[in-house]
Amino acid sequence: MTTLIVGGNGVTGSQVVEQLLIRNQEVRIIVRSAEKLPQSWKDHDNLKIIEASILNMEKATLSNHLSGCNAVVSCLGHNMSLKGIFGPPQKLVTDAIRKLCHGLNEQESSNRPIKFILMNSAGHRNQNEVISLGHKIALYIIRNLLPPHRDNECAASFLRDNIGPDNHSIEYVVVRPDTLINEEKVSDYSVFPSPTRSAIFNPGKTSRINVGHFMAELLTDENLWTQWKGQMPVIYNKSAI
Ligand SMILES: NC(=O)c1ccc[n+]([C@@H]2O[C@H](COP(=O)([O-])OP(=O)(O)OC[C@H]3O[C@@H](n4cnc5c(N)ncnc54)[C@H](OP(=O)(O)O)[C@@H]3O)[C@@H](O)[C@H]2O)c1
Repeated sequence: MTTLIVGGNGVTGSQVVEQLLIRNQEVRIIVRSAEKLPQSWKDHDNLKIIEASILNMEKATLSNHLSGCNAVVSCLGHNMSLKGIFGPPQKLVTDAIRKLCHGLNEQESSNRPIKFILMNSAGHRNQNEVISLGHKIALYIIRNLLPPHRDNECAASFLRDNIGPDNHSIEYVVVRPDTLINEEKVSDYSVFPSPTRSAIFNPGKTSRINVGHFMAELLTDENLWTQWKGQMPVIYNKSAI
């Protein structure tokens, strides 16, 4: 199976790459700069590194890179600097996944349906999830003050509302971790259809390697994929529940 990853050089994205390579999967990553990537990645037979900006890439070029892919993963996120948070592109994630889905729809591929995983956040409230009034007010303020949060919400909504859970071409899972932490090893984690705690007032923790592990399992375990496709699972480290 071949998976194209955007944001694959990010702290979480790189865990997804590693977890897929451990499973002997073919991986392609689109990164703005390959300079800081580990030499082991540059030498890896199963990893193709494409140095380009996803948002500026010509449609035909993207189409070439998508050709033969069975899955796409986005671990894109705004850099945590003033420029990354408030500067352009404010719709980084939404525009990138829209472009990728458009490219996938145009593929003359026999690999359908193509799996699409979007890294999102437990701070994003999916339709009809019950939250307190205080949480609603805080979300309203965050949404209007912080473009990256708005972008995350729009990206997830795009998959839910424009691709939809019954699409024959693209199947999606939106993975929602809570506060991200770094750990060396995969640990026990739990996955729920919706948050089990307030991401604002009582956040849980999710290690990035566990996100990588869950995404890789989704892509390689058909039963797990069937269980979560068309949904927005929330993942917590077990030690944080
Ligand atoms: N922090 C949390 O607690 C938390 C919790 C839940 C969810 N999340 C979500 O998870 C996302 C990923 O987290 P992370 O810690 O793995 O992020 P990260 O290490 O900052 O990775 C972000 C990725 O996005 C890429 N990127 C940024 N701006 C770009 C642009 N303009 N064009 C193309 N690529 C661009 C980066 O590439 P470059 O190296 O080229 O910049 C990098 O590959 C966050 O941004 C957030 O939306 C975060």
